[in-house]
Amino acid sequence: MYKLLRSLLFLQNAEQAHHFTTSSLKRVLKIPILGTLFRSAFVLEDKKLEREVFGLKFKNPIGLAAGFDKNAEYFEEMGELGFGFIEIGTVTPLPQSGNEKPRLFRLKKDEAILNRMGFNNLGVDEAIKNLSKPRKNKNILIGGNIGKNKITPNESAVNDYIICFEKLKPFVDYFVVNVSSPNTPNLRDLQEKEPLKKILFALQERNEIDKKPILLKIAPDLSNEQLLDIIEIVTETKINGVIATNTTISRENLITEKACVEALGAGGISGKPLLEKSNYVISFLHKHSKGQFPIIGVGGIHSADDAIKKLEAGASLVQLYTGFIYEGPSLIKDIKRKLIQKN
Ligand code: FNR
Repeated sequence: MYKLLRSLLFLQNAEQAHHFTTSSLKRVLKIPILGTLFRSAFVLEDKKLEREVFGLKFKNPIGLAAGFDKNAEYFEEMGELGFGFIEIGTVTPLPQSGNEKPRLFRLKKDEAILNRMGFNNLGVDEAIKNLSKPRKNKNILIGGNIGKNKITPNESAVNDYIICFEKLKPFVDYFVVNVSSPNTPNLRDLQEKEPLKKILFALQERNEIDKKPILLKIAPDLSNEQLLDIIEIVTETKINGVIATNTTISRENLITEKACVEALGAGGISGKPLLEKSNYVISFLHKHSKGQFPIIGVGGIHSADDAIKKLEAGASLVQLYTGFIYEGPSLIKDIKRKLIQKN
Protein backbone atom coordinates (compact mmCIF):
# COMPACT_ATOMS: atom_id res chain seq x y z
CA MET A 1 0.00 0.00 0.00
CA TYR A 2 2.74 2.47 0.99
CA LYS A 3 4.79 1.45 -2.08
CA LEU A 4 1.88 2.62 -4.27
CA LEU A 5 1.58 5.92 -2.41
CA ARG A 6 5.37 6.29 -2.59
CA SER A 7 5.45 5.92 -6.36
CA LEU A 8 2.94 8.80 -6.59
CA LEU A 9 4.84 10.92 -4.08
CA PHE A 10 8.11 10.26 -5.89
CA LEU A 11 6.63 11.86 -9.00
CA GLN A 12 6.75 15.15 -7.12
CA ASN A 13 9.79 17.22 -6.28
CA ALA A 14 11.16 15.88 -2.96
CA GLU A 15 10.57 19.00 -0.89
CA GLN A 16 7.02 19.45 -2.22
CA ALA A 17 6.30 15.79 -1.48
CA HIS A 18 7.46 16.32 2.12
CA HIS A 19 5.14 19.29 2.66
CA PHE A 20 2.26 17.55 0.92
CA THR A 21 2.63 14.39 3.04
CA THR A 22 3.01 16.12 6.40
CA SER A 23 0.14 18.55 5.86
CA SER A 24 -2.13 15.78 4.51
CA LEU A 25 -1.32 13.59 7.51
CA LYS A 26 -2.25 16.46 9.82
CA ARG A 27 -5.61 16.87 8.07
CA VAL A 28 -6.35 13.14 7.94
CA LEU A 29 -5.60 12.60 11.64
CA LYS A 30 -8.03 15.38 12.58
CA ILE A 31 -10.88 13.18 11.29
CA PRO A 32 -11.72 11.04 14.34
CA ILE A 33 -12.48 7.78 12.53
CA LEU A 34 -9.32 8.01 10.40
CA GLY A 35 -7.26 8.92 13.45
CA THR A 36 -8.50 5.77 15.20
CA LEU A 37 -7.77 3.66 12.09
CA PHE A 38 -4.23 5.01 11.85
CA ARG A 39 -3.53 4.38 15.49
CA SER A 40 -4.79 0.80 15.30
CA ALA A 41 -2.73 0.20 12.15
CA PHE A 42 0.56 1.59 13.39
CA VAL A 43 0.68 1.64 17.16
CA LEU A 44 2.20 -1.33 18.95
CA GLU A 45 2.89 -0.99 22.64
CA ASP A 46 4.62 -3.55 24.79
CA LYS A 47 6.50 -3.44 28.09
CA LYS A 48 9.43 -5.11 26.31
CA LEU A 49 9.87 -2.00 24.15
CA GLU A 50 10.23 0.42 27.04
CA ARG A 51 13.65 1.90 27.78
CA GLU A 52 15.07 4.21 30.39
CA VAL A 53 17.92 6.26 28.96
CA PHE A 54 19.57 9.38 30.43
CA GLY A 55 16.87 9.47 33.07
CA LEU A 56 13.96 9.57 30.61
CA LYS A 57 11.38 6.84 30.09
CA PHE A 58 10.88 6.01 26.40
CA LYS A 59 7.80 3.93 25.49
CA ASN A 60 9.85 2.48 22.64
CA PRO A 61 13.42 3.04 21.39
CA ILE A 62 12.57 4.27 17.85
CA GLY A 63 12.69 8.00 17.22
CA LEU A 64 12.15 10.36 14.33
CA ALA A 65 15.48 12.01 13.49
CA ALA A 66 15.96 15.77 13.29
CA GLY A 67 15.17 17.64 10.08
CA PHE A 68 11.75 16.14 9.44
CA ASP A 69 9.85 18.40 11.84
CA LYS A 70 12.02 21.50 11.81
CA ASN A 71 9.43 23.83 13.36
CA ALA A 72 7.69 21.46 15.80
CA GLU A 73 4.57 21.37 13.64
CA TYR A 74 4.03 17.64 13.26
CA PHE A 75 5.34 15.92 16.37
CA GLU A 76 1.85 14.93 17.54
CA GLU A 77 1.03 13.30 14.22
CA MET A 78 4.38 11.53 14.00
CA GLY A 79 3.78 10.23 17.52
CA GLU A 80 0.52 8.70 16.26
CA LEU A 81 2.55 6.69 13.74
CA GLY A 82 4.29 4.89 16.58
CA PHE A 83 7.57 6.73 17.18
CA GLY A 84 8.71 6.71 20.81
CA PHE A 85 10.34 10.13 20.54
CA ILE A 86 10.55 12.98 18.08
CA GLU A 87 13.47 15.33 17.61
CA ILE A 88 12.38 18.75 16.41
CA GLY A 89 14.72 21.17 14.63
CA THR A 90 17.39 22.04 13.87
CA VAL A 91 16.11 25.27 15.37
CA THR A 92 18.14 28.48 15.18
CA PRO A 93 17.58 31.74 17.13
CA LEU A 94 16.38 33.70 14.08
CA PRO A 95 14.22 32.42 11.24
CA GLN A 96 16.22 31.67 8.08
CA SER A 97 15.20 30.46 4.65
CA GLY A 98 18.06 28.00 4.10
CA ASN A 99 19.76 27.34 0.81
CA GLU A 100 18.35 28.03 -2.61
CA LYS A 101 15.92 25.45 -4.02
CA PRO A 102 16.13 22.74 -5.28
CA ARG A 103 18.07 21.47 -2.27
CA LEU A 104 16.58 18.04 -1.60
CA PHE A 105 17.09 15.09 -3.96
CA ARG A 106 16.34 11.38 -3.99
CA LEU A 107 19.04 8.94 -5.06
CA LYS A 108 16.53 6.16 -5.74
CA LYS A 109 19.02 3.52 -6.84
CA ASP A 110 20.84 3.95 -3.53
CA GLU A 111 17.68 4.36 -1.44
CA ALA A 112 19.26 7.57 -0.27
CA ILE A 113 18.62 11.29 -0.02
CA LEU A 114 20.99 14.14 -0.76
CA ASN A 115 20.10 17.37 1.05
CA ARG A 116 21.58 20.81 1.44
CA MET A 117 18.60 22.39 3.20
CA GLY A 118 20.84 24.67 5.29
CA PHE A 119 18.80 24.85 8.53
CA ASN A 120 15.69 26.36 6.95
CA ASN A 121 13.43 27.04 9.92
CA LEU A 122 11.05 29.63 11.31
CA GLY A 123 13.24 30.39 14.33
CA VAL A 124 13.08 29.36 17.97
CA ASP A 125 10.10 31.59 18.89
CA GLU A 126 7.88 29.90 16.31
CA ALA A 127 8.95 26.46 17.54
CA ILE A 128 8.04 27.48 21.10
CA LYS A 129 4.62 28.70 19.93
CA ASN A 130 3.95 25.26 18.45
CA LEU A 131 5.33 23.37 21.43
CA SER A 132 3.15 25.39 23.84
CA LYS A 133 -0.10 24.28 22.22
CA PRO A 134 -2.10 21.76 24.28
CA ARG A 135 -0.88 18.22 23.54
CA LYS A 136 -3.09 15.19 22.93
CA ASN A 137 -0.30 12.72 23.41
CA LYS A 138 1.59 13.48 26.61
CA ASN A 139 3.47 10.21 26.33
CA ILE A 140 5.75 11.25 23.52
CA LEU A 141 9.20 12.59 24.36
CA ILE A 142 10.49 15.60 22.43
CA GLY A 143 14.12 16.41 21.71
CA GLY A 144 15.18 19.94 20.81
CA ASN A 145 17.92 19.97 18.18
CA ILE A 146 19.66 23.35 18.24
CA GLY A 147 22.05 25.12 15.89
CA LYS A 148 23.42 28.49 14.91
CA ASN A 149 22.21 30.94 12.27
CA LYS A 150 24.21 31.11 9.06
CA ILE A 151 25.00 34.80 9.63
CA THR A 152 26.47 34.13 13.08
CA PRO A 153 30.25 33.75 12.89
CA ASN A 154 31.70 30.67 14.60
CA GLU A 155 33.41 32.90 17.22
CA SER A 156 29.99 33.89 18.59
CA ALA A 157 28.18 30.61 17.86
CA VAL A 158 27.98 29.86 21.57
CA ASN A 159 25.42 32.67 22.00
CA ASP A 160 23.09 31.12 19.42
CA TYR A 161 23.18 27.76 21.21
CA ILE A 162 22.52 29.49 24.56
CA ILE A 163 19.53 31.43 23.16
CA CYS A 164 17.91 28.28 21.75
CA PHE A 165 18.71 26.27 24.88
CA GLU A 166 17.22 28.80 27.31
CA LYS A 167 14.11 29.46 25.23
CA LEU A 168 13.33 25.80 24.49
CA LYS A 169 14.20 24.43 27.92
CA PRO A 170 10.67 24.43 29.40
CA PHE A 171 9.24 22.73 26.30
CA VAL A 172 11.53 19.81 25.43
CA ASP A 173 12.71 16.68 27.24
CA TYR A 174 16.28 16.60 25.96
CA PHE A 175 18.64 18.71 23.86
CA VAL A 176 20.86 17.97 20.90
CA VAL A 177 23.74 20.25 20.05
CA ASN A 178 24.10 20.04 16.30
CA VAL A 179 27.58 20.92 15.08
CA SER A 180 27.62 18.32 12.34
CA SER A 181 25.41 19.50 9.48
CA PRO A 182 27.44 19.80 6.28
CA ASN A 183 25.09 22.48 4.94
CA THR A 184 25.97 25.50 7.09
CA PRO A 185 29.38 26.83 6.06
CA ASN A 186 32.12 26.01 8.63
CA LEU A 187 29.63 24.59 11.16
CA ARG A 188 31.55 21.34 11.41
CA ASP A 189 34.66 23.26 12.55
CA LEU A 190 32.77 23.55 15.85
CA GLN A 191 33.36 19.81 16.33
CA GLU A 192 36.98 20.65 17.19
CA LYS A 193 37.90 20.36 20.86
CA GLU A 194 38.09 23.97 22.01
CA PRO A 195 35.00 25.49 20.35
CA LEU A 196 32.94 22.44 21.23
CA LYS A 197 33.94 22.50 24.90
CA LYS A 198 33.11 26.21 25.04
CA ILE A 199 29.55 25.55 23.80
CA LEU A 200 28.93 22.50 25.98
CA PHE A 201 30.33 24.05 29.17
CA ALA A 202 28.25 27.19 28.54
CA LEU A 203 25.08 25.07 28.23
CA GLN A 204 25.92 22.97 31.27
CA GLU A 205 26.39 26.16 33.32
CA ARG A 206 22.82 27.05 32.42
CA ASN A 207 21.58 23.57 33.16
CA GLU A 208 21.83 23.56 36.95
CA ILE A 209 18.12 24.04 37.64
CA ASP A 210 15.50 21.89 35.88
CA LYS A 211 18.32 19.85 34.36
CA LYS A 212 17.71 18.50 30.85
CA PRO A 213 19.87 15.83 29.18
CA ILE A 214 22.24 17.31 26.59
CA LEU A 215 23.51 15.21 23.68
CA LEU A 216 25.98 16.00 20.94
CA LYS A 217 25.21 15.09 17.32
CA ILE A 218 28.30 14.21 15.31
CA ALA A 219 29.20 13.66 11.67
CA PRO A 220 30.04 10.21 10.27
CA ASP A 221 33.13 11.64 8.57
CA LEU A 222 35.30 12.11 11.68
CA SER A 223 38.67 10.37 11.98
CA ASN A 224 39.39 7.90 14.80
CA GLU A 225 41.47 10.58 16.46
CA GLN A 226 38.56 13.04 16.34
CA LEU A 227 36.24 10.34 17.74
CA LEU A 228 38.61 9.86 20.67
CA ASP A 229 38.47 13.64 21.22
CA ILE A 230 34.66 13.41 21.24
CA ILE A 231 34.81 10.79 24.00
CA GLU A 232 37.12 13.06 26.01
CA ILE A 233 34.83 16.06 25.49
CA VAL A 234 31.68 14.16 26.51
CA THR A 235 33.41 12.93 29.65
CA GLU A 236 34.91 16.29 30.54
CA THR A 237 31.78 18.37 29.95
CA LYS A 238 29.59 15.65 31.57
CA ILE A 239 26.96 15.85 28.85
CA ASN A 240 24.61 12.88 28.65
CA GLY A 241 25.43 11.22 25.35
CA VAL A 242 25.99 11.33 21.62
CA ILE A 243 23.82 11.04 18.52
CA ALA A 244 25.72 9.21 15.79
CA THR A 245 25.40 10.24 13.04
CA ASN A 246 24.39 13.12 10.82
CA THR A 247 24.56 12.88 7.00
CA THR A 248 27.84 12.14 5.21
CA ILE A 249 29.73 14.29 2.72
CA SER A 250 31.28 11.12 1.26
CA ARG A 251 30.25 10.07 -2.25
CA GLU A 252 31.85 6.60 -2.01
CA ASN A 253 30.03 3.33 -2.73
CA LEU A 254 27.05 4.89 -4.47
CA ILE A 255 25.17 3.00 -7.19
CA THR A 256 23.88 6.23 -8.78
CA GLU A 257 26.17 7.30 -11.65
CA LYS A 258 28.99 9.60 -10.51
CA ALA A 259 28.05 12.27 -13.07
CA CYS A 260 24.45 12.36 -11.80
CA VAL A 261 25.55 12.75 -8.19
CA GLU A 262 28.06 15.45 -9.15
CA ALA A 263 25.38 17.33 -11.08
CA LEU A 264 23.24 17.52 -7.95
CA GLY A 265 26.02 19.41 -6.17
CA ALA A 266 26.93 19.75 -2.51
CA GLY A 267 25.02 18.24 0.40
CA GLY A 268 24.85 15.44 2.93
CA ILE A 269 23.82 11.92 2.03
CA SER A 270 21.48 9.91 4.22
CA GLY A 271 19.88 6.48 3.90
CA LYS A 272 21.34 3.11 2.95
CA PRO A 273 24.86 4.30 1.95
CA LEU A 274 25.25 5.71 5.47
CA LEU A 275 24.44 2.52 7.37
CA GLU A 276 27.92 0.98 7.74
CA LYS A 277 29.63 4.34 8.29
CA SER A 278 27.33 5.29 11.14
CA ASN A 279 27.52 1.77 12.63
CA TYR A 280 31.31 2.09 12.64
CA VAL A 281 31.09 5.37 14.60
CA ILE A 282 28.62 3.87 17.09
CA SER A 283 30.74 0.79 17.80
CA PHE A 284 33.97 2.84 17.96
CA LEU A 285 32.47 5.24 20.52
CA HIS A 286 30.86 2.43 22.50
CA LYS A 287 34.04 0.37 22.63
CA HIS A 288 36.51 3.17 23.34
CA SER A 289 34.29 4.85 25.94
CA LYS A 290 33.62 1.43 27.53
CA GLY A 291 29.91 2.15 27.23
CA GLN A 292 30.19 5.11 29.59
CA PHE A 293 27.48 7.19 27.90
CA PRO A 294 24.37 6.39 25.87
CA ILE A 295 24.42 6.66 22.09
CA ILE A 296 21.43 7.28 19.84
CA GLY A 297 22.19 5.45 16.59
CA VAL A 298 20.97 6.99 13.34
CA GLY A 299 21.87 6.53 9.69
CA GLY A 300 20.57 4.12 7.09
CA ILE A 301 17.94 2.18 9.03
CA HIS A 302 15.66 0.70 6.35
CA SER A 303 14.69 -2.57 8.07
CA ALA A 304 14.21 -4.11 11.50
CA ASP A 305 17.57 -5.88 11.10
CA ASP A 306 19.30 -2.54 10.46
CA ALA A 307 17.88 -1.19 13.71
CA ILE A 308 18.94 -4.31 15.64
CA LYS A 309 22.48 -3.99 14.23
CA LYS A 310 22.69 -0.43 15.56
CA LEU A 311 21.53 -1.57 19.00
CA GLU A 312 24.06 -4.41 18.91
CA ALA A 313 26.79 -1.94 17.92
CA GLY A 314 26.13 -0.11 21.19
CA ALA A 315 23.21 2.25 20.60
CA SER A 316 20.61 2.54 23.38
CA LEU A 317 18.01 4.12 21.10
CA VAL A 318 17.71 4.56 17.34
CA GLN A 319 16.32 7.20 15.02
CA LEU A 320 15.39 7.23 11.37
CA TYR A 321 14.46 9.63 8.61
CA THR A 322 15.32 8.38 5.09
CA GLY A 323 14.16 4.79 5.77
CA PHE A 324 10.81 6.23 6.81
CA ILE A 325 10.52 7.98 3.41
CA TYR A 326 11.42 4.81 1.45
CA GLU A 327 9.65 2.18 3.59
CA GLY A 328 6.76 4.13 5.15
CA PRO A 329 5.37 3.99 8.66
CA SER A 330 5.12 0.18 8.74
CA LEU A 331 8.91 0.16 9.24
CA ILE A 332 8.41 1.39 12.82
CA LYS A 333 6.05 -1.48 13.62
CA ASP A 334 8.37 -4.01 11.92
CA ILE A 335 11.24 -2.90 14.14
CA LYS A 336 9.06 -3.11 17.24
CA ARG A 337 7.84 -6.63 16.37
CA LYS A 338 11.40 -7.83 15.90
CA LEU A 339 12.51 -6.24 19.18
CA ILE A 340 9.65 -7.90 21.06
CA GLN A 341 10.53 -11.28 19.51
CA LYS A 342 14.17 -10.85 20.47
CA ASN A 343 13.53 -9.95 24.12
C1 FNR B 1 18.46 15.80 7.94
N1 FNR B 1 19.20 15.65 9.10
C2 FNR B 1 19.27 16.67 10.01
N2 FNR B 1 19.96 16.50 11.17
C3 FNR B 1 20.01 17.50 12.09
O1 FNR B 1 20.62 17.32 13.14
N3 FNR B 1 19.38 18.68 11.83
C4 FNR B 1 18.68 18.94 10.70
O2 FNR B 1 18.10 20.00 10.53
C5 FNR B 1 18.63 17.90 9.74
N4 FNR B 1 17.97 18.08 8.55
C6 FNR B 1 17.84 17.04 7.67
C7 FNR B 1 17.09 17.22 6.52
C8 FNR B 1 16.93 16.15 5.63
C9 FNR B 1 16.12 16.34 4.40
C10 FNR B 1 17.53 14.90 5.91
C11 FNR B 1 17.36 13.72 4.98
C12 FNR B 1 18.29 14.73 7.04
C13 FNR B 1 19.94 14.39 9.37
C14 FNR B 1 19.07 13.33 10.01
O3 FNR B 1 18.58 13.74 11.26
C15 FNR B 1 19.85 12.01 10.17
O4 FNR B 1 20.93 12.22 11.05
C16 FNR B 1 20.40 11.50 8.85
O5 FNR B 1 19.47 11.71 7.81
C17 FNR B 1 20.75 10.00 8.90
O6 FNR B 1 19.62 9.22 9.16
P1 FNR B 1 18.79 8.45 8.00
O7 FNR B 1 18.09 9.52 7.22
O8 FNR B 1 19.76 7.70 7.16
O9 FNR B 1 17.81 7.59 8.74
